Amino acid sequence: MKIDRISLKIIPDSKARETLEAKMQSGALAVLASVPAGESTGKNEAKVIDPKIALEKISWIETQIKGHEFSQLGQFDGLLNTLDGTSNKSNLGANLILSLSLCFTKLLAQKGGLETWQLISRISGSRPSLPLCFFNVIEGGVHTENSLPFQEYWFIPKINSPKKALDQCQTLLSQLKKKINAEYGKVQMGAEGGYTVSSKNAEDGLKILRTAMEESGLDGNLGLDVAASSFSDITSYDLSYFRLLTQKYPLLAIEDPYSEEDWEDFSKITEVLGSKVWIVGDDLTTTNPKLIKLAAERNAVNAVIIKTTQIGTVSETIQAANLAKSYGWKIIVANRGEETMDDFIADLSVGLGADGFKSGCPLQEERLVKYQRLIEIEKICHI
Ligand code: PGA
Ligand code: ZN
Repeated sequence: MKIDRISLKIIPDSKARETLEAKMQSGALAVLASVPAGESTGKNEAKVIDPKIALEKISWIETQIKGHEFSQLGQFDGLLNTLDGTSNKSNLGANLILSLSLCFTKLLAQKGGLETWQLISRISGSRPSLPLCFFNVIEGGVHTENSLPFQEYWFIPKINSPKKALDQCQTLLSQLKKKINAEYGKVQMGAEGGYTVSSKNAEDGLKILRTAMEESGLDGNLGLDVAASSFSDITSYDLSYFRLLTQKYPLLAIEDPYSEEDWEDFSKITEVLGSKVWIVGDDLTTTNPKLIKLAAERNAVNAVIIKTTQIGTVSETIQAANLAKSYGWKIIVANRGEETMDDFIADLSVGLGADGFKSGCPLQEERLVKYQRLIEIEKICHI
């Protein structure tokens, strides 16, 4: 496949901040892709550049890409990495590189008459499947003002049907809104469209969520993204606290219970709670094969978050996911704190056969479109 034209523009994301949208053309086909951004980023993530600087770089990249014949995604991503020439994509920027890698993936799928998830399934060698939805219904931490200390509280319906899961989530959200209103007054939204709860007690989020779930007649699991690397002080919740929470609530997964430097605490919690709870690395592992390998050597987690933006190309994202799966871990494909309308991650999760899919709260449009894409795949493709 030859690329005839690429262009880049700046668009606003869900927080009205500037991000990149790329367009790529090959013959009669043209695709768009836009990149999200993190607010609680891990320190080992690939580096993003100012979108305005990215615009200055695109015509040079176009001259380097035009005329090449690409048959594989790895070949295209490899060329971008060579042009960048750094280990963390700081020269061309992970956001710019990813926008092109996403476009190329979509274009390659279309050229081959495939859905994007089908192409990803072939490249990764995974059996496609529909993931469990991890709905971020209550938010705290740096994604909010004046809310709970933990960043995300998930409602996880116990079904692999995104359609039924979304229906359940909507039922839950209306009950949850009423309860938060009654107990805490005004209901506000966090960065991902979930509700906030004005309490400093981390457990209060789980309490109100479980009650709303029971009152709605729903039987789901719950989960947490503690996002401990983002704590503004040195607060850390010890193992006995997390153990207590897992005894009191139906917790399926806990993400980043400790900060990205606390490898020993990660290993301890995985040893003690790992047989019943997914201990999930996000800032700890940053979709980076080197860190995922290190986490395996230290038995630090039994599950990982997979985010394209953390590593910066689709092929390296697939490599990271495959490595994590080779250790028998669960993988959860996830959105970012600041999102766009691009629904690529839904295809990614199906194509990788991911166990979980975390796309914020469906009350926000940028999150909803990704759940809707999953439902479309469920409907059309009979997986
Ligand atoms: P971020 O948060 O995109 O702001 O880093 C999401 C997460 O921590 O999972
Ligand atoms: Zn996280």
